[in-house]
Amino acid sequence: MLLARSRRSVVLSTRSLVFSLVWLAASVGSASRASAADTDRGAELYELCTQCHGVAGEGNQAALAPGIAGLPEWYVLAQLQHFKKGERGMHPEDTGGLRMYPMSQTLKTPEDMQAVAAFVAAMPKVSSERTLEGGDATRGAQLYTICVACHGPDGAGNEALGSPPIAGQSDWYLLSSLQKLKSGHRGTYPNAVVMRGMAGTLTDEQAMKDVIAHIMTLHPTNAAAAAPNQ
Ligand code: HEC
Ligand code: HEC
Repeated sequence: MLLARSRRSVVLSTRSLVFSLVWLAASVGSASRASAADTDRGAELYELCTQCHGVAGEGNQAALAPGIAGLPEWYVLAQLQHFKKGERGMHPEDTGGLRMYPMSQTLKTPEDMQAVAAFVAAMPKVSSERTLEGGDATRGAQLYTICVACHGPDGAGNEALGSPPIAGQSDWYLLSSLQKLKSGHRGTYPNAVVMRGMAGTLTDEQAMKDVIAHIMTLHPTNAAAAAPNQ
């Protein structure tokens, strides 16, 4: 009993140490954009998110939660708004989205959404997991030619088009997102509809795995995408 207790406190203190380090990195990274008070608020709000997205924003496949550390602020904010308004995360077959929807409801004000989005964006990126097998990256590179227009040749995304970075994301989350975008389970807000048409060019799961195998070879070089690492 005593042993179990002290082990638990070791686990807890390691957890809070990691959290403090992430907080520090995020506050340094976002110093130019957000005030210290906003960063404190963002860190406070992010504590709830750690149970699924992890202390370092690394994600957790078992919780269906993607890595979010270092995603651009505009994209994190847009997705939090889609969840909050019930535009994403409402379909009965969208198990992951249904878990995220109530979490978005805990963010009560636009200022809080902004603060947590800035905090997430400033977190150092965490390397993604490879879990899928059987994707053909050569065929995937062919399939990816249509994606370049919006996600860029290096998968860094394009704010003006609302298209997020996809390089560096975990393969299992890319697959589940492509499936949900294609089926319409992600939602019917304009960017989901745009992407639904694009996911429709991937005729089956094999084509999705092929394009993902290619995306896993990409390394964003553009300054905007690399910024959170610096
Ligand atoms: C109960 C678990 C859970 C908690 C807590 C949680 N999330 Fe999520 N979140 C998820 C899941 C699962 C998804 C994936 C939804 C999907 O598959 O479409 C997700 C998706 C997201 C996305 C979309 C990522 C993308 O690439 O489109 C963002 C942004 C996000 N969460 C931010 C947050 C923030 C910020 C918090 C804290 C306020 C938070 N989440 C708390 C489970 C959670
Ligand atoms: C016409 C522009 C456009 C093209 C072409 C396009 N996308 Fe997208 N993509 C988007 C937009 C916009 C979003 C954001 C959807 C949202 O806000 O939910 C997106 C989202 C995604 C996501 C979800 C990422 C996440 O974090 O949840 C994946 C995966 C993706 N696209 C992959 C692809 C692939 C693979 C191709 C090529 C077959 C492709 N896209 C072609 C615009 C595009």
